[in-house]
Amino acid sequence: MTTLIRGGAVVNHDHTRRADVLVEGEHIAAVGTGLSTPSGATVIDAGGCFVMPGGIDPHTHLDMPFMGTTSADDFESGTLAALSGGTTMVVDFCLPGPSQSMLSAYQEWRHKGEKAAGDWGLHMAVTSWNKERFDEMETVVKTYGINTFKHFMAYKGALMVNDDEMYNSFARCANLGALPLVHAENGDVVARLQAQLLGRGLNGPEGHAYSRPPEVEGEATNRAIMIADMAGSQLYVVHTSCRQSHEAIARARAVGKRVYGEPLIQHLVLDEGEYQHRDWDYAARRVMSPPFRAKEHQGSLWAGLQSGSLQVVATDHCAFTTKQKRGGIGDFTRIPNGTGGLEDRMPVLWAAGVNTGRLTMEEFVAVTSANIARILNVFPRKGAVAVGSDADIVVWDPAATKTISAAKQKSRIDYNVFEGFACKGLPRATLNRGRIALLDGDLRAKAGDGKYIERPAFPASHVAQATWKELTAPRGVDRAAVTP
Ligand code: URP
Ligand code: ZN
Ligand code: ZN
Repeated sequence: MTTLIRGGAVVNHDHTRRADVLVEGEHIAAVGTGLSTPSGATVIDAGGCFVMPGGIDPHTHLDMPFMGTTSADDFESGTLAALSGGTTMVVDFCLPGPSQSMLSAYQEWRHKGEKAAGDWGLHMAVTSWNKERFDEMETVVKTYGINTFKHFMAYKGALMVNDDEMYNSFARCANLGALPLVHAENGDVVARLQAQLLGRGLNGPEGHAYSRPPEVEGEATNRAIMIADMAGSQLYVVHTSCRQSHEAIARARAVGKRVYGEPLIQHLVLDEGEYQHRDWDYAARRVMSPPFRAKEHQGSLWAGLQSGSLQVVATDHCAFTTKQKRGGIGDFTRIPNGTGGLEDRMPVLWAAGVNTGRLTMEEFVAVTSANIARILNVFPRKGAVAVGSDADIVVWDPAATKTISAAKQKSRIDYNVFEGFACKGLPRATLNRGRIALLDGDLRAKAGDGKYIERPAFPASHVAQATWKELTAPRGVDRAAVTP
């Protein structure tokens, strides 16, 4: 299939220029002015539009068993929502059960992903630690094309790992050329605060926010950064929601640590006032971790995106219906944690970021695709409108408007946390590896169109030479004396 995108302005993370874009098959064949139309080519008129790399959302939970239920959007509805909003690739989390091997969890998630309508990849979660996990990590990196491992410092009694496990896994990541990710909240303190609040009879959704103050996140972010430094690994902090966490990341970067931070679109525009709503359903629908913060934290997150101390805007799309949320009536700790946003991330960020002057168009591209493509080691295959790159392209009409409404969304849930938000700037067309997924409101993509994207390992660290023997050496023994 050949497509010529004619008459637009191509926006990459580092420059903007007026150019046509020729797509042949799955790739971009030419970028330049006055390109001639090959016979049989489809022509998309991009006059008045910006032609940008398709968005990459590196943080989704589609079809995920969690807190006694399963997230409502699967790989089909989630990726269709993504494509409608200009996002051409998602990276989801493969979560092994308590005693499940990473290898069998990977097979399960690959099966779930067969329905994806857009490109997708996986992060692997480290949910338990032993020699089997240590060994499996090598297969995950070298055979499955997964170069990222997620660690939950929260969800005590479920997904949470302790400092010892994190240190070992981070060192193993460095050794394999993989990047550790953390959900940074102090799960022990959260559990304590939850019990205190419930003990005082505070059981509504607002209790969720009170039990997870910014200090809980700031402490865990600092701790993860220091552990990563000692283990010799880089670090990516998911859903950075508050000033304390952002400052920890900025401090680390200022002394040369390779640490990345990922604010969510929700935390950039929604605040803790949402949990004070008198309607239980309204507040519970917004329960996610970390919770929405006091408004002043938003300024810190925007500043981080502007200055480069924070690099990526994601969604953490983990959607639950109102019926699922109601499982937590009478006990906020049982409200399934998670909100949606896949269809809305790019339009809301454009409206709140570019239209307000907070972000340039190039910065918009950086934080929605190019930076994460580099962090995940798939740039410039993804995250660039350039010759040879995958033809993942969004033709963005800066004059198009809509008001977000659950009634019109692709997600399967019955509400939208951005309901009523006025967007100006929307995708006119979305192409995923050359296939027209969306054109003028016509969503053409279908289940199975997406491709699983493998990501190569980074060069292995020369600092971390951790073997299983080293990592399990009894404490107090000089590590140098333990020969592999
Ligand atoms: O509340 C959230 N964020 N739910 C999804 C799981 C996670 O912590 O990312
Ligand atoms: Zn999380
Ligand atoms: Zn998440």
